[in-house]
Amino acid sequence: MHGQDVVLDGVSMRFGDFTAVQPTDLTINAGEFFSILGPSGCGKTTILRMISGFLDPTAGDVRIGGKSMAGIRPNARPTALIFQNLALFPLMSVWENVAFGLEARGVPKKVRRERAEELLAMVALTGQGEKKPTELSGGQRQRVAIARALAVEPAVLLLDEPLSALDLKLRQHMRSELKDLQRKTGVTFIYITHDQGEALTMSDRVAVMNRGVVEQVATSDEIYNLPATPFVASFVGEQNVFRGRLSGVDGEVARVDTPQGEMLARLRGKAGVGDEVMIFVRPERMGLGTAGAGTEPRNRLRATIERRDLEGPFVNLHCRAGDAPVTVHLPNSGDAASSLASGETDLGFRPTDAIVMPVGELARE
Ligand SMILES: Nc1ncnc2c1ncn2[C@@H]1O[C@H](COP(=O)(O)OP(=O)(O)O)[C@@H](O)[C@H]1O
Ligand SMILES: [Mg+2]
Repeated sequence: MHGQDVVLDGVSMRFGDFTAVQPTDLTINAGEFFSILGPSGCGKTTILRMISGFLDPTAGDVRIGGKSMAGIRPNARPTALIFQNLALFPLMSVWENVAFGLEARGVPKKVRRERAEELLAMVALTGQGEKKPTELSGGQRQRVAIARALAVEPAVLLLDEPLSALDLKLRQHMRSELKDLQRKTGVTFIYITHDQGEALTMSDRVAVMNRGVVEQVATSDEIYNLPATPFVASFVGEQNVFRGRLSGVDGEVARVDTPQGEMLARLRGKAGVGDEVMIFVRPERMGLGTAGAGTEPRNRLRATIERRDLEGPFVNLHCRAGDAPVTVHLPNSGDAASSLASGETDLGFRPTDAIVMPVGELARE
């Protein structure tokens, strides 16, 4: 098996006068584990259906392996699709389920059987071929569905929230299995999810979508550490948000007047002096004001601790600074600072750990 690249060239989708996917350019590389991450209803499944051929784009072109897919039926495309609610055939054995697509292609039974066993081995189900799907666990059935999809040797595997019906523990286990399988096969995986943990842990690159628009395409590290828009910043992980007005720019460093005081941060996106902006700082990048004093510039603010939650390795302080709620995740060092439970405190963070962007839409909680 080998992967092919997938290119969306100005692809959009309208249903009546509602635009589910705005014109989108996207290149997914051959052999890449690529995720599309976004809240329910943002257009993820619609993109997948246009790639698989179940939906014709309103405009633009889908190319797979350099070839336009216009007018090519789903079963003639080098893609296979796996849904959330996978449907195995209950009366067929596991191996017959896996080999189902091969029978339609006229592959003789003996070869089908051998091929099914190879695929079952690949998804760690050796020896389970004679069972019925109902005799397997949820995670095992999911792996049968993956083996079935891989049986027809697709160059591109499209996975639409395939883990969302599984329980948490199994979901986490399946993450590493899927990642391994992708590496072993070299097939291009396009993985759709609203679960940021899944997207960040498995993917070579992630596209974050909001309301039919791809807002950022980047590696997991970059999505988390250097979000491109307020939506991406607030959808992925936790954030503290301060609002203010840009009062100066010096290269990459922006100065912002906020109700909590003046703050320095990295400028991301286009903002000019006088513009209203948002500052984003992750809870784990904030500390008590006394930490790191004198070594580098730090932003400081005065806050009142309202609640302390012990979360094992972390202590979460829920504070208020003026009208802004502020959460601080401190490593649980066992010392007096991390056992601080109430009262007034100074909080601090490095300008390089904070990002300034023009005011924009935030993800809903
Ligand atoms: N066939 C359709 N007709 C009308 N609206 C649709 C159709 N399919 C999807 N939509 C709408 O398009 C938007 C995006 O849907 P979808 O791609 O399924 O989102 P996601 O997979 O991100 O949850 C939603 O508002 C949905 O209601
Ligand atoms: Mg969907």
